[in-house]
Amino acid sequence: MEQTLFIIKPDGVKRHLVGEIIKRFENKNFNFIKLKMFAFDKDNATKFYYIHKDKSFFHELISFITSGEVVAAVIEGNNAIQATRLMVGSTNYVEAEPGSIRGDYALGLTSNIIHASDSKQNFEIESKIIF
Ligand code: CMP
Repeated sequence: MEQTLFIIKPDGVKRHLVGEIIKRFENKNFNFIKLKMFAFDKDNATKFYYIHKDKSFFHELISFITSGEVVAAVIEGNNAIQATRLMVGSTNYVEAEPGSIRGDYALGLTSNIIHASDSKQNFEIESKIIF
């Protein structure tokens, strides 16, 4: 069994997609280990997205992720990291497959509904920042 983390971003919460997204992960048979709603402050957001600090989109990303409430979850299941990334879909909404969360709901590069850890190492770092 493996654990991973996802965050429903401010656009997903504002668009009332929390129930829909949680339902997809429950339907897939993941166990929910932790779940919380909160708002990132600038410090936490900068820590969370530190890996992107030198990217051109960093300031836009911090401003977006701190713009409202988010819902974060730690879930557990077989190959959770890879399976979750597939359910989330490509970062670029143009390439996100229909049937994936971003493929079905995202029409922006920064506002792309959901984040999911991309490795075990980043799951450890990210979940410590949030929980
Ligand atoms: P996320 O999976 O949360 O990881 C980094 C985030 O940066 C990404 O989703 C997008 O919301 C945002 N972002 C904005 N522009 C880009 C870009 N050009 N490439 C990748 N990520 C971007």
